[in-house]
Amino acid sequence: MKALILSGGKGSRLYPLTYTNAKQLIPVANKPVLYRVIEAIKDAGINDMGIVIGSGENGRKVRAAVGDGSLWDVNITYIVQDEPKGLAHAVLIAREYLQHDRFVMFLGDNVIEGGISNLIREFEDSDYNAQIVLTPVAEPQHYGVAELHADGSIKRLVEKPREPKSNLALVGIYMFDHHIHEAVRSIKPSWRGELEITDAIQWLVEQGYHVHPYIHRGWWIDTGKPIDMLAANSKVLEELVPAIHGFVDKDSEVDERVTIEPGAQIINSIVRGPTIIGENTRIINSYVGPFTSIYHDCLIENAEIEHCIVLENSQIIDVSARITDSLIGRNVIIRRSQLKPRALKMTLGDNSRVGLI
Ligand code: DAU
Repeated sequence: MKALILSGGKGSRLYPLTYTNAKQLIPVANKPVLYRVIEAIKDAGINDMGIVIGSGENGRKVRAAVGDGSLWDVNITYIVQDEPKGLAHAVLIAREYLQHDRFVMFLGDNVIEGGISNLIREFEDSDYNAQIVLTPVAEPQHYGVAELHADGSIKRLVEKPREPKSNLALVGIYMFDHHIHEAVRSIKPSWRGELEITDAIQWLVEQGYHVHPYIHRGWWIDTGKPIDMLAANSKVLEELVPAIHGFVDKDSEVDERVTIEPGAQIINSIVRGPTIIGENTRIINSYVGPFTSIYHDCLIENAEIEHCIVLENSQIIDVSARITDSLIGRNVIIRRSQLKPRALKMTLGDNSRVGLI
């Protein structure tokens, strides 16, 4: 089997972070989501992976971050999509790479509990033409939605329906045989102008092919929005096996669910897990609360932070209010200023959000 990972798209719901970085490269528990996807596929025994990337800067960033796959001992082939014309369009342009092989398609911004080894094994041992993964969600209208017959087989799949017929969302992990190639050639773009994979699978169902629905019972997160990134971060942090590789001074209190990466320093601070402190980051006279990931080369000094993701090289210094539920980008400085007039002074990227008290 091969894998097709989708890492194109604009990531507009994560602006401003995704102006300068591909959304699939934003770290969850200090590791890019895309790396987690590659590892899950490798764990399932698949070593040949095609990655669909955009033709612009984000595509170049993904190539630079993933390279030829030698980091994981896998073979990576890049497939360039000129514009994000839909998930089925990505399959269309990957035709030459995929050939006649069965494959798993994995959306590069999805994070799932427990990996995909069982799913892949079930598909490999079956004669299904396709296998989709469904899971109950609170707001199905934001996803592809499946309506099932009483016997559990698929009745109908609809992409982001206004009035969903069930609460079963399509998870961004799909398994196909070669019939999907005819399906993606047979459908028309949707109201949002995209070739929808949901419509292609519905076409398979209508033609009488065997599409098996697998119901996933653990957690699953599509990291499309900041709130989803924080949720995925919390879930993955809970699964991390904690380890202290950095320095903790005798005046600090670090609980047993904290991971401290090499070169990090905790000075006169309290760190409560599950939390991860990245390489060469310094936490000085501060409180870092649960469900926080601070990436490498950051400085948190005289500040309090909880349930946040902070990306590399950022600094939070002398801030009296506790910062919570926040996604803070790279090279950001948040610091109390001594300059007059005493006022809030900000340089914020387009589409930034600030919540004041
Ligand atoms: O996450 C699950 C959902 O993913 C499913 O329930 C939906 O049925 C499915 O259509 C999809 O919906 P989204 O609106 O969340 O898809 P999004 O546009 O966010 O794209 C998903 C991933 O695929 C993302 O990593 C970007 C990449 N992508 C997207 C498009 C449209 C591409 O590589 N090329 C594309 O043309």
